[in-house]
Amino acid sequence: MKAKARAHTNIALVKYWGKADKALKLPLMSSISMTLDAFYTDTEFNHSQDLEQDAFYLNEIKQTRQQSQRVFNYINELRKKFNLDQNEHFEIRSYNHVPTSAGLASSASAFAALAASFAKSYDLNLDKTALSRLARLGSGSATRSIFGGFVEWQKGTNDETSFAKAIDENPDWDLHMLAVEVNTGQKKISSSIGMQWAQKSPFYQTWLNENQSEINALKKAIAKHDFTNLGEISEQSANEMHAVNLSANPGFTYFEPDTLELINLVHTLRQQGIECYYTIDAGPNVKILCTLRNSKEIISAIHNLLGNVKIVNASFGPGVQYLD
Ligand code: ADP
Ligand code: DP6
Ligand code: CO
Repeated sequence: MKAKARAHTNIALVKYWGKADKALKLPLMSSISMTLDAFYTDTEFNHSQDLEQDAFYLNEIKQTRQQSQRVFNYINELRKKFNLDQNEHFEIRSYNHVPTSAGLASSASAFAALAASFAKSYDLNLDKTALSRLARLGSGSATRSIFGGFVEWQKGTNDETSFAKAIDENPDWDLHMLAVEVNTGQKKISSSIGMQWAQKSPFYQTWLNENQSEINALKKAIAKHDFTNLGEISEQSANEMHAVNLSANPGFTYFEPDTLELINLVHTLRQQGIECYYTIDAGPNVKILCTLRNSKEIISAIHNLLGNVKIVNASFGPGVQYLD
């Protein structure tokens, strides 16, 4: 009655940032991401008549009722969906090899690993499309973490049609993402809340109108292994997301001073002929897209600017896996 799964985080290049349906986590836009090898979550799900209470441990620490609410609600929703015993107790033991709630996509790897371990513990025998839909009910970005490499989440129109698909699970491309850990503390505005506020920006609809053409352009760049196009589209999508945050009412931002320092550094490096692009999620940390060839020089420029800040050099990671 126990199962364990590993899922890697993914970073969106064309961002998901808004919901058409909060309960089903149906997005207002399609998105494309890169699954990363360097960050992941391992989760064990156990259900048994012998357990006396529900429990959620994160990195060996038992979480409070309040900290567990989101995962408890999720498990109860899934048990209802599959007509499983609602009274049996369960225990979740999860390990984040990624900073939690810091804009490095912990909710993506977390809910993908939880969906997979849950489904296996009940022998539900779900294919990857079904798992992707299940992960979506936990966190939108988790929809994509079922697959490796480049992944597209087609927004769909309902629970059946909103899921992710692999574009290329094993790209033969030396594309790297440097995750610069500006601040790994817990963000004050969760992604769920941030995107809800962002939808109040007067520019939000204008951004949405561009979504399908951005998706098409990025897919073309991926197919051609066109780094320049991929980088430009990714940077633009991130800028658009952070612009609707600033222009919401009230406006807000996830940026910190070092976030801006890094944005400026990427511009300077490009002027010097070192090609790289940034993307930023719901947190102050900056991810820099580059090739392996350029990564050494970029890393030393970041250290020159920000001292011994932690930089994780990531590349393509795999889809969800079951562990023994
Ligand atoms: P992030 O930028 O890290 O994805 P979010 O605001 O999207 O931040 O999501 C953070 C939330 O995800 C946490 O508050 C918690 O509810 C959930 N979460 C993170 N890691 C885990 C985990 N390993 N297992 C279950 N839930 C998790
Ligand atoms: C900026 O998937 O964390 O990382 O669906 O409310 O759980 P919920 O939000 P979440 O939002 C991710 C936002 C993003 C962009 C992206 O991953 O596409
Ligand atoms: Co998240």
